[in-house]
Amino acid sequence: MRILLGVTGCIAAYKACEILRELQRADADVRVVMTEAATRFVGAPTFAALSGHPVGLSLFDNATDPIPHIRLAEECDAFLIAPCTANVVAKLAGGIADDLLTSTALACTAPLMVAPAMNVHMYENAATQSNLATLRARGVQVLDPQSGRLACGEVGAGKLPEPSAIARAVLELAEPLAARALVGRHVLITSGPTVEPIDPVRFISNRSSGKMGAALAQAALDAGARVTVVSGPVSLLYPDGATVVSVETAREMLEQARRAASDADIIVGAAAVADHRPAVSAPQKLKKGTDDAELTAIPLVANPDVLRTLATDRRPGQIVVGFAAETDQVLAHAEMKLRYKHADMIVANEVGNGKAFGTDDDKAAFVTSAGIEELPLMPKAQLAQRIITKASDLLSETS
Ligand code: CTP
Repeated sequence: MRILLGVTGCIAAYKACEILRELQRADADVRVVMTEAATRFVGAPTFAALSGHPVGLSLFDNATDPIPHIRLAEECDAFLIAPCTANVVAKLAGGIADDLLTSTALACTAPLMVAPAMNVHMYENAATQSNLATLRARGVQVLDPQSGRLACGEVGAGKLPEPSAIARAVLELAEPLAARALVGRHVLITSGPTVEPIDPVRFISNRSSGKMGAALAQAALDAGARVTVVSGPVSLLYPDGATVVSVETAREMLEQARRAASDADIIVGAAAVADHRPAVSAPQKLKKGTDDAELTAIPLVANPDVLRTLATDRRPGQIVVGFAAETDQVLAHAEMKLRYKHADMIVANEVGNGKAFGTDDDKAAFVTSAGIEELPLMPKAQLAQRIITKASDLLSETS
């Protein structure tokens, strides 16, 4: 998806960097066009470095492209102007095209969204309100500013909404939810570690951060699905819009996942479930000296295999995806797990030596009964999207 981001001269211009990042996390290709005033707040090289593209600044600065506004206008699925000053709101309403940004807006036939940010009196001024009404009447999406303390010290409406909310809104505009692959579908994701108590203060657990589960939840939400995450204790926040069921032990995870699985279309096991738990969990804290025998040799018993149980008990048409985190013979182990877990796909990745756990990049392979598809190294967010897309393809093959 290609988003054109217009940045105008306002103190909130720095927040456009975060909007750009949020859009890239959703795999959008972002190009930036700035007004001259915007460059007084944030330098064009910042946006060029973040976007990986030259920044559009002037109608006349491009030796290879004499009509840059037409190319920018044609090559985007949506045009977002954030922050948008009162001056640019007025120019858009009046059809004025006296720089690259406003010329591009006039030439653009893709959906246009503006996020006004300014002083409260400038926002409330009748001229600005009438200009915004004109834009709305023409089908421009106007994101209402939030109220709060403004950069000028005044309190009132004029603050730019959160970058993540702006990014979500423009992605929705560029590709309406109704057109997305998993609309009306329910995706269940197990995530994070499980915690198996030895006594009320000690436990057995692992280093799973929940990052992959969170990335999968975001990818499934972006694809239009309803999302349930059954998660062990993690320190990150799952995306807004996902229903999060918090659990501690593998047995709790199985119980909650079973409940959510009853109407799930896709089940993804991203949790690092502890394979074993202490046979006995002491009701009181074990004391050294008195309870040494219980503390130095802790008998373990096997935990249920959450993914395998869900896959075995699945209803027809449900797609089950698991992970295989391996240090050696990655693909051979993944193929074994595909069969043993009765999964439709195993995402195989190599762990150890700094790979996969807690990192932002992953190298993985999709192992299905049809064969092996090796993927290049990519950010977790992108891998999560590829997994959800693949699971959604498998789902449409079954229905
Ligand atoms: N899994 C699960 N319940 C378990 C163990 C694993 O649901 N008790 C799921 C994980 O969420 C993952 C997949 O099974 O999707 C593979 O997990 P992994 O730990 O790699 O494999 P194990 O089955 O534990 O096998 P091993 O430890 O021998 O590699």
